[in-house]
Amino acid sequence: MKAVVTGGAGFIGSHIVDLLLENDSEILVIDNFSSGKKEHLDFTQKKLHVLEADISHSVCIREIEKFQPDMVFHYAGQISVGYSVREPQGDAQQNIMATLKLLEASKGLQVQKFIMASSAAVYGDQLYYPTTEEHTQFPHSPYAISKKCCETYLEYYGRNSNMQTFALRFSNVYGPRQNAGGESGVIAIFFDRLQAQNSFTINGDGLQTRDFVFVEDVARANWMCATAENLTNYNCFNVSGAQEISIVKLVSLAQDIAKKHGFTSLKIAHGEALAGELRRSSLSYKNIYHSVGWAPKTTLAEGLEKTCLYFAK
Ligand SMILES: NC(=O)c1ccc[n+]([C@@H]2O[C@H](COP(=O)([O-])OP(=O)(O)OC[C@H]3O[C@@H](n4cnc5c(N)ncnc54)[C@H](O)[C@@H]3O)[C@@H](O)[C@H]2O)c1
Repeated sequence: MKAVVTGGAGFIGSHIVDLLLENDSEILVIDNFSSGKKEHLDFTQKKLHVLEADISHSVCIREIEKFQPDMVFHYAGQISVGYSVREPQGDAQQNIMATLKLLEASKGLQVQKFIMASSAAVYGDQLYYPTTEEHTQFPHSPYAISKKCCETYLEYYGRNSNMQTFALRFSNVYGPRQNAGGESGVIAIFFDRLQAQNSFTINGDGLQTRDFVFVEDVARANWMCATAENLTNYNCFNVSGAQEISIVKLVSLAQDIAKKHGFTSLKIAHGEALAGELRRSSLSYKNIYHSVGWAPKTTLAEGLEKTCLYFAK
């Protein structure tokens, strides 16, 4: 397989790159290293080519044309909900316009499959659990609107080209290499604090629930979509753990795992609840399971252990 991975130096993208390399693929990573890190990539791999550039820049399209990929995994983008609220036009440029350019270039190149990271954010408030793909969409932010808009373009290109397109709606992805700064996930922040022996503050009562999926399972979902046959032109799948856990319970489990590895427990405090924060979130993975046979393999305890060991390095 010849694959372009945009955002291949980032958290999720770099795990996709690892899995593609294990499967002997040739890869062109395009990343501007705004949040991605060089140490996430193994530059000694002969089949790995890296272009340091912004995906909206025309040099990317020229290099993709030269590379002639079979697959595109689109994982570059701006991921801050706060930024999207402050700068909706900037968010649309980076997340919608850049995706559209890539889709148009890929269609012209006879790419077979185009897989993109979408998000549970497209649902907004979830009205039933676990939420399925047919659920109504109530995006709460320009970030979520961008994802919804890109999904509509993916559907359009899937139906109007020879390229199969995929929108993978992730729940809360966690694992090694997640950035613990900015608006990152609670698990990365917890293990990062543990390193510094800081206290950890839970937003509100901590009874809000989330659905966590381990990053290696997410990479495997990408691989299974890329290699599956007999799929429709456009495929929209939830990718999740489909298990709700409250933040209080999650933190308690993470404390136990950290203790097992010799860390002193963090002092846990409760802060103000975040305005507009969802109380419950859980996605069903039934659809991707029936279509490509994917189900999460990593239990939360196993994933937390791997994440703890990564942050302990
Ligand atoms: N992490 C999650 O829980 C989660 C959940 C749902 C969806 N997603 C989506 O998955 C994708 C990847 O997220 P992530 O968590 O790996 O974030 P990340 O910030 O670790 O990865 C993004 C990568 O893209 C690169 N990048 C950003 N803008 C770029 C640009 N304009 N040109 C070139 N490279 C650029 C960054 O340097 C980084 O390497 C994003 O689209 C995000 O919205 C993530």
